[in-house]
Amino acid sequence: MSEGRRRRLAPSLLSADFADLASAVRAGEAAGADAFHLDVMDGHFVPNLSFGPALVQAVRARTRLPLDIHLMISHPARYARAFAKAGGSTLVFHLEAEDEPEEVLRAVRHEGVEVGAALKPGTPFDRVVPHLANLDQVLVMSVEPGFSGQTFLPAALPKLRQARAALDEIGSKADLSIDGGVTVETAPLAAREGATFFVCGNSVFVGGDVAGNLARLRAAVAEGTPREVR
Ligand code: DX5
Ligand code: ZN
Repeated sequence: MSEGRRRRLAPSLLSADFADLASAVRAGEAAGADAFHLDVMDGHFVPNLSFGPALVQAVRARTRLPLDIHLMISHPARYARAFAKAGGSTLVFHLEAEDEPEEVLRAVRHEGVEVGAALKPGTPFDRVVPHLANLDQVLVMSVEPGFSGQTFLPAALPKLRQARAALDEIGSKADLSIDGGVTVETAPLAAREGATFFVCGNSVFVGGDVAGNLARLRAAVAEGTPREVR
């Protein structure tokens, strides 16, 4: 059923040079990125701090590509307006956050932007099932959230498979996103399980060859023919 669904690559700016984000955005665009992924951390939901709406707004001013905002924060409902106004295209909240998912969904929908729900590695897929029909994206984390450059956790693969089956079953066109340790080795595995949206941090920005890295990742994603396609 996922035959023909376009698979997209989203460089994660967390791995870029924060002092030169404009160059990272330019390089990503020139290399054919489909979106940018921005990791917002509050030092509470995750043991790290990153950036807030002002930086999202600054990036928005530099690109027309969709901005995928990954909210690793305890109170996503409270900040939905600020990130939507800053130019976020999709706001992805965590099911493990303190706000009730229904409250976050309402708050994001009210702003008229897309909404996604993320699951940490230890969170069972069942947690997202009641919300599936209301989501534009399901994000399966393949590392513990908080830092780039970690190793892909293979337990994400069966979770992707479950998500793919559940989304197909209800005829959802939501993106199935994989985030954490996505490389030329792991991207085909995730693609095979039906992922459609690939967040890539270190594998795009480390070493500086953004164009080459993105081209290699795109080829790797294409290798992973989804199971359903025969
Ligand atoms: C981790 C973030 C990721 C991170 C991915 O908490 O959610 O988006 O930037 O970086 P890599 O691809 O290096 O694992
Ligand atoms: Zn992320």
